[in-house]
Amino acid sequence: MDEIYAKYEYAKKMLETELQILIKEFERKHGYTPVEHTKSRIKTEKSIQCKLTKKGYGFTPENIEKHISDVVGVRIVVSFLSDVYDIVSMITHSTNLLIKKRKDYIKEPKDSGYSSYHLIVLVPIYLESYVEYITAEIQIRTVAMDFWATLDHKIRYKFQDVIPADIQNAMREYAEDIQELDRKMYEMNKIMSKYEKEGY
Ligand code: GTP
Ligand code: MG
Repeated sequence: MDEIYAKYEYAKKMLETELQILIKEFERKHGYTPVEHTKSRIKTEKSIQCKLTKKGYGFTPENIEKHISDVVGVRIVVSFLSDVYDIVSMITHSTNLLIKKRKDYIKEPKDSGYSSYHLIVLVPIYLESYVEYITAEIQIRTVAMDFWATLDHKIRYKFQDVIPADIQNAMREYAEDIQELDRKMYEMNKIMSKYEKEGY
């Protein structure tokens, strides 16, 4: 277990560095900062064990590698809806990361109302005599989506996934409010850019 954790630590560092470089390059090219903040983490052993049990697998290094794609996770929180897709495109074009899977929960939110763009990527780690590819999850979302997801996470934790219907319904409604707000903020940002171009 120590050995595979060391690999995940290495992959996390590689991914953080690659993303830092990509974001810097993006800022240089476009002249603005789309990223509000990023956060990365390694899933705890307890949490991995829990997920494997739920999926009906034993807690072995092979099963972790095969069935858990988010041992390494990075979240990128951006200002505007358009920034989400710019960041996705930037990561997609990176020659150092391979895209294994993409899920656009912004176009199609989950039943809960959850909305974000997910990329499952392969991160190369350079071992003594060979290169290994480690799976990692990148979540890209706006500040508004992050606000919603943080409260939703607290609710899930409190009710252990058996969420009262009134709370579920309210959260679905707020998810729609947030979608609407993100769209308005995006439009406002476009208007701002127009003024800027006119020399304001
Ligand atoms: P797991 O949900 O991780 O077992 O795998 P999956 O293949 O279903 O991935 P999915 O893309 O559905 O979700 C992966 C991650 O997205 C989760 O670990 C959460 O961080 C986040 N997520 C998905 N659905 C929700 C949700 O309803 N609320 C919140 N707060 N986060 C969610
Ligand atoms: Mg899920």
